[in-house]
Amino acid sequence: MTAFRLDDLRQHSDVLRSRRGEAVTVRFVEPRDADGIQNYFRGLSARSRYNRFFGAISELPPGQLDRFIHVGEADQFSVIATILVDGHETIVGEARYAFDFETSSFEFGLSIDDRWQGHGIGAALLKNLECRAAAVGASRLFGDTLRSNDAMIALAKKSGYAFSNSPGDWKLVRFGKEINLAPHDIPCASWKLAALSRMSSPAIAG
Ligand SMILES: CC(C)(COP(=O)(O)OP(=O)(O)OC[C@H]1O[C@@H](n2cnc3c(N)ncnc32)[C@H](O)[C@@H]1OP(=O)(O)O)[C@@H](O)C(=O)NCCC(=O)NCCS
Repeated sequence: MTAFRLDDLRQHSDVLRSRRGEAVTVRFVEPRDADGIQNYFRGLSARSRYNRFFGAISELPPGQLDRFIHVGEADQFSVIATILVDGHETIVGEARYAFDFETSSFEFGLSIDDRWQGHGIGAALLKNLECRAAAVGASRLFGDTLRSNDAMIALAKKSGYAFSNSPGDWKLVRFGKEINLAPHDIPCASWKLAALSRMSSPAIAG
C-alpha cells in the first residue's frame, strides 16, 4: 500500500542547498544505484556506519541492499542526496523511511558522508523528510539513535524534536516530532504538489 502512484519516481526529486550553497539533489534510489550505494556505505567512517546501523558493519548485507534499492516495497523508501563533483553525480548522503498507515507515523534514519558532514546537508535532508512525511499524511515523525550520538542528538534538538526512551533498547534514544501541516503549507514544492494531488484524488491514497 502506498500513498502515491510511484510510476514516475523521478518526478519526486528535490534540490536542496548546502550551507555553502551547493545544489544537493535528493532522489529516490533506483536499482542502478546498487554499486554506488555500497561504495557510499563502505566509504563512511567506521564510526558513522556504527551510528547509522547501531553495529559494526562494513557494507550493507545483500538482503538489506536489495530492500534498499527496491523503493516502495512494504511502504519503505530510500533516497540519496547527491552533489555534482567534477561533473559526476556523487552520493553525499542517504535516508531511509517507512510510513505506517495504521499509526500515521513516519520512521526514518539518515547519514551524511563524513567529508560532507557539517555543511548543513543533514539539516536540509531532515527538513525534506518532514515534507515527505507531511505529504503522505503522517502526523508524527520519529527516529532512533544511539545515546552516544551527539551529532544526531544535537541536530534533532535544533530541529525541534523531543526525546523519549526507545522501546526495547536502553542504548537508543527516540527523537520525535508531531507534524500538522496542511498541503498548502508544505515547504517543498514537489511534495506540496504531491499532497495537493493526493487530496484531489483520494482514490489513490492508501
Ligand atoms: C548526524 C548527521 C546526519 C548530521 O549531519 P550533518 O550534515 O553533518 O549536519 P549539519 O551540518 O546539517 O548540522 C546541523 C546541526 O546538527 C548539529 N551537529 C551536526 N554535527 C554535529 C557534531 N559533530 N557535534 C555536535 N552537533 C552537531 C549542529 O546543531 C548543527 O548545527 P550548527 O552547525 O548550526 O551548529 C551526520 O553527522 C551523520 O551522518 N552521522 C553518521 C550517521 C548518523 O549518526 N546517523 C544518525 C542515525 S539516525
